[in-house]
Amino acid sequence: MCGIIAVTGSGASVEILTTGLRRLEYRGYDSAGIVLHTRDDGFLRFRAAGGTKSLVALESEAGAFHGEVIAGIGHTRWATHGGPTLFNAHPHFDCGENIAIVHNGIVENFRELKEELLAGGHVFSSETDTEVIAHLIEVQLPFSPSLVDAVASVAKRMRGAMSFVVVGASEPGVIVGFKRMAPMVVGTDGSSWFLASDIPAILDRAGTFFQIEDENLVVLTPKGARMLTLDMVDVPMESFGVDWTLESAERSGFDDFMSKEIFEQPAALRDTLAGRMTRDGLLLLDEQPSDLDLWARVDKVFIVACGTSFHAGMVAKYAIEHWTKIPVELDISSEFRYRDPVVDERTLVVAVSQSGETLDTLAALHEARNLGAQTLAVCNVVGSSMARLADAVLYTRAGPEVGVAATKTHTSQIGALMMLALQLARVKGQLYPQEVRDLYDQLLAVPAKVTEVLGLWDQMRDLAVRYGGCSRFYFIGRHVGYPVALEGALKLKEISYLPAEGYPAGELKHGAIAMLDADAVVFAIATRTRLYEKVMSNVEEVRARNSAVVVIGNPGDESVVSTGETFISVPRLHPLFAPMVDVIPLQMFAYHVARGLGNDADRPRNLAKTVTVE
Ligand code: G6P
Repeated sequence: MCGIIAVTGSGASVEILTTGLRRLEYRGYDSAGIVLHTRDDGFLRFRAAGGTKSLVALESEAGAFHGEVIAGIGHTRWATHGGPTLFNAHPHFDCGENIAIVHNGIVENFRELKEELLAGGHVFSSETDTEVIAHLIEVQLPFSPSLVDAVASVAKRMRGAMSFVVVGASEPGVIVGFKRMAPMVVGTDGSSWFLASDIPAILDRAGTFFQIEDENLVVLTPKGARMLTLDMVDVPMESFGVDWTLESAERSGFDDFMSKEIFEQPAALRDTLAGRMTRDGLLLLDEQPSDLDLWARVDKVFIVACGTSFHAGMVAKYAIEHWTKIPVELDISSEFRYRDPVVDERTLVVAVSQSGETLDTLAALHEARNLGAQTLAVCNVVGSSMARLADAVLYTRAGPEVGVAATKTHTSQIGALMMLALQLARVKGQLYPQEVRDLYDQLLAVPAKVTEVLGLWDQMRDLAVRYGGCSRFYFIGRHVGYPVALEGALKLKEISYLPAEGYPAGELKHGAIAMLDADAVVFAIATRTRLYEKVMSNVEEVRARNSAVVVIGNPGDESVVSTGETFISVPRLHPLFAPMVDVIPLQMFAYHVARGLGNDADRPRNLAKTVTVE
């Protein structure tokens, strides 16, 4: 997830670009950069890399330019392909520096395209997938009537969700954009035309906006905008106005980041999964271990994590053991360090962490390395401490998560860990390459199912109104439903401050059942995973204690609830993939309860997003 801005027309300036980037920083801030198409000096590029300081450095460097700007493009980066360094900062050029590009999203087939370009003599100056687009346009331009024709030919070769914006030295004032399942909007004030990843970037400049449909190109000149299909057929553009304030626009109109991030889950998961597996079922890690054969000799996996990441790790245990037959141990990071974990060079220790900085998990990773284990970091922040320390890295590509209560990074972690499980099964010879591919294809279908579940938003709000006043909440599940139950309880505790517990459904009768009465609410995760019938038997135990019952189940099972109980229907998936959809109604429930209580969902009391103390 990155932020893009572009401007052409009388208002084009450094200040418009950098102000827009400031408002897009929530999309990432690993680096910032702009290219100006100037009247006297052609293209001028300014870039800076340094986390939150990037934009400040860019503003002071580019702010010193006082010449005439015809058009400009800008970018704030959330690193995916290539570390958060200066040479990976956008905009990127082709070999001749006649094409400049900024890009958001992932070019899934960039490796094969890059090989083709390298064989053709192109020289790359970054590790990004973005740069291939610039070089491909360079190849195409001499055979095309104009820049937009060249961009159309190249866009047809790209796989993956993305939007990008291009300027060409040969066409001053022309900006060409392409959109496919990544946000991009057009705006104008009548004398300048803008493209941006999001409305806030241009909200104080543009009064009129236009949506760009997926798979379309947009061409801006100082005089106006055109939308075109990839076959160069004009598409009518419909304008709209917005009545958001700048503050709410940063959250794309959502009331807060948590709700926005809940709704970003299909895109986050898609970006995490897309283009990650070769045709013969091998996982493309972001950082490969020095010797992948070592993984074939692994005889134990140890997963260490904290909080929500730990619950993702729990789901992974079921999948890895099922597909690989390797035993998996799971530990809370702060416990791992202070006992004597049985770990050696045949153990793969997997640190799961959104931030890649949580001190206890980082320390556990250090400990694992000291004990001679092979290590893998699964985290969301490129170049984080864990990513630098581990032998191998698998990034979730969820984009920056601002809400303290993790949502989109959690479902993305589960997606990433499922790919890891398949990879281990492949290298251990437990699954055939085709079986891995088939399962991966099923995994790729999950984001669309997540989109369906988001349709439960209003129903979960109604449920929160109904039960928000209850005193205690229990979440029960078995098998992979158990970590879902734990996560449902954790979400509710974190932002509503209400007592909530997650339980393995079969364990209820060994203690927690004593707490059940008519003032308690029990959520049962009863989708068609392995132990569906047994979970439903446990629901009977709850009914006998007069507690309210909410069943999360699959279509067709609605009749399992009795009068007065609630059935929340979520799509049925492969049992091991089910947690990625089953947890989402619980996130929404927690969110609505918290809002109903007047709590700040983004900044719950006593909690921090990243805990770097022991
Ligand atoms: C904090 C956050 C949680 C998060 C946990 C682990 O407690 O509030 O949302 O799950 O840290 O963080 P990590 O960055 O390692 O996933």
